[in-house]
Amino acid sequence: MSACCFWTVPNDEKDVLEHMKTDGVYESEKRDHLLLAAKAWHPGFDAVRDMVWLIDSECRVAQTNLAAANILETQIEAAAEDRCCRLIHGRETPPDYCPHLRAMATGEPQTAEIEEPHLGRTLKISVFPVKDDQGKVMGAVEVISDVTIQREDQQEAIRLTEALAQSFTGITEAISDLAERRDPYTAGHSRGVAEWSVNIAREMGMTENDIHGIKAGALLHDLGKIAISADILNRSGPLSENEWGIIKAHPWTAYEALCRIHFPWPVAELVYQHHERLNGSGYPRGLKGDEIHPWARILGVADVVDAMITHRPYRPARSKKEIMDELKRGRDKIYDANVVDLALRLLVKTDRRVLVVDDEPGILDVILQFFQLADSSIEVQAFTDSCKALQAFEEQPFPVVITDVNMPGINGLELLRRVREIHPATRVIIITGLGEKKYTVEALRLGASDFLEKPLQMKALKASVETMLTRYEER
Ligand SMILES: [Fe+2]
Repeated sequence: MSACCFWTVPNDEKDVLEHMKTDGVYESEKRDHLLLAAKAWHPGFDAVRDMVWLIDSECRVAQTNLAAANILETQIEAAAEDRCCRLIHGRETPPDYCPHLRAMATGEPQTAEIEEPHLGRTLKISVFPVKDDQGKVMGAVEVISDVTIQREDQQEAIRLTEALAQSFTGITEAISDLAERRDPYTAGHSRGVAEWSVNIAREMGMTENDIHGIKAGALLHDLGKIAISADILNRSGPLSENEWGIIKAHPWTAYEALCRIHFPWPVAELVYQHHERLNGSGYPRGLKGDEIHPWARILGVADVVDAMITHRPYRPARSKKEIMDELKRGRDKIYDANVVDLALRLLVKTDRRVLVVDDEPGILDVILQFFQLADSSIEVQAFTDSCKALQAFEEQPFPVVITDVNMPGINGLELLRRVREIHPATRVIIITGLGEKKYTVEALRLGASDFLEKPLQMKALKASVETMLTRYEER
């Protein structure tokens, strides 16, 4: 393929004919047709605003249209005599990502969008291989569009959308915090519901935009409670029918207010529905099944989980087991089955329950009191009777078990064996007394994860429990 340039450099007709003669490729009739075709197409190609050029297999520019001068900011004559890798990529050899290179190698059309620092532009390059009669690739026609401004506009649009979403989140959090400020007992509940909702939504594989929407709904779900007096809200005793009516109106109160804000998500509707239940037993409208928005079903479960996990003035925080039991009881009856399954998975993942077994009540008291003061996120259940401890474990396996070795009934090693049999992921810490080191090898064989000696060092015990909980979560 010769490096003539009949679209842009005005060739002398005789030169072209002479050139073709020299090559001896075309007969006279074909030659005339080709010349006429080239002349006819010349203004057409130059009218195209994208670069169109013909590149040979050695990366030389064979022909090009006028747009090349604008995009490459060079004289068209210079472009027509140069190599495309130097003009586009600013280098003597084409880089690995060059679509021309791939088209030459595969014989297939290629498209790529490339940011070229050399030109300070973003180019969309489409390469169409040109083949001879035997199918051998001789070069390629390339169409190159300068998409720099479009991409900059898109980036700006993304930046503005993100800024808008952040503003919505900021305003939503501010309203939520203000609404909760009057009631210290439920402060943080909305953020807790938001965290559970977002985590469930993530497990579901929802998009980031949808997750922003569900978070806004969660943060504002109890906004309507602002209209309820603190006396009714925190009453531990029974409520009158009228007072119940006031409480049940809070989704509607919030809906009315939020309807006026044009969120990009159905926030008002979600808030309106967050107490609706699958079987129609919820309020305020008694919606059933598919009548309830899928995101509102997530809010409903997240609301219940966070409320139970938190201490309230009229009742202590519920244990993980109680929460799990409540969810399992309501699964597919009042709560969405899929949402419940994901919430249960998250509860197990963030399970920080520790079962402690020692026949000496004094040691158990010390451990219980220590964890209550040192880390309230760790939920310790203590047993002096190893048989009862095993029963509790069978009902709901714990992530971590701490057990004394020498105990009446089921001893520490037997307990370790049974625990690992029921739930192999559980980490077991063995406590040995003086002269009981001989049990270590057997305990290791049975799968013990750590050993501590009496008298117990509480700091060492806490560090060991933390490590075991992390390993359990990472399993
Ligand atoms: Fe509520």
